[in-house]
Amino acid sequence: MPKPRILVTRRWPASVEAVLSERFDVSLNRDDVPLGESELRQALADHDAVLPTVSDKLPEAVFAGDIRTKILGNFGVGFNHIDIATAKAKGIVVTNTPGVLTDCTADIAMLLLLSVARRGGEGERQVRAGEWKGWCPTHMIGTKVSGKTVGIIGFGRIGKAFAQRCHFGFGMDIVFYNRSQVDPGEAARYGARQLGSVEEVLAASDFVSLHCPGGAENRHLMNAERFAAMKRGAFLINTARGDVVDEAALTAALANGTIRGAGLDVYEAEPQVPEALRRMENVVLLPHLGSATEETRTAMGMKVVENVTAFFEGREAPDRVI
Ligand code: DGY
Repeated sequence: MPKPRILVTRRWPASVEAVLSERFDVSLNRDDVPLGESELRQALADHDAVLPTVSDKLPEAVFAGDIRTKILGNFGVGFNHIDIATAKAKGIVVTNTPGVLTDCTADIAMLLLLSVARRGGEGERQVRAGEWKGWCPTHMIGTKVSGKTVGIIGFGRIGKAFAQRCHFGFGMDIVFYNRSQVDPGEAARYGARQLGSVEEVLAASDFVSLHCPGGAENRHLMNAERFAAMKRGAFLINTARGDVVDEAALTAALANGTIRGAGLDVYEAEPQVPEALRRMENVVLLPHLGSATEETRTAMGMKVVENVTAFFEGREAPDRVI
């Protein structure tokens, strides 16, 4: 039996590429240059499995023509870059990597919250530029974090891990919005309380942190009206997906003082970050680092290996999305 032909769209941790190369007939992307639409279409025509990630766009057009691919083993938990309905219609299995990036993504949300509240990015820029004039009682005054209220939108694994950090680490009150009802006993384990609407959460929170999926259902969930519904002086944290936030509305809300600041790890058109946001001091900007630790990226890769191995051995892929 020939080994399944597999294409990996980007460079992965070397230890995971080594396992893939042992098990499969693998094409690696040694130069790590993202594939364009026609290259992705060709990949689906030529390979039994394609292993994409968030930087690959797979809209309906990529699925046109003859397709050899039977499984897309996505490297990442979010899969809004894949047209799932079309993949399903073409009979392609799609898997993701839940669970292994929970802690690291929650850590990055905490990092953003602390950085934006305590002006960490701004302070670092000042020291590096040689512009710090020394300690004084009124220098770079930020916002206290401990004891404040955090509002979480989307109380899945990452939302819960973030709540745990905020509540048990910083004594914060936690309220959240989640589409489905969460057992109050389960919510209480994270010191959290479910509210009935996004608006109620926005009205109660000093910090609002997004942990819901991207894609059509949550596109521009944070829009001009919702920024206006936030407390004056509140902050927005986004480690979910860029399309959950209307970036133009966010920029306006920051510019006119509707909200005090934002900590962002994800953007609507990555890697483009609007110039207006880059110019603002009250915004902390990270380059989609949520899962970027050696341990987590290796674990994500090994999850893809498990999914694809199970599939080609005729077993159910453990993290099947469709
Ligand atoms: C994820 O797993 O969704 C990360 O954001 C990388 O895609």
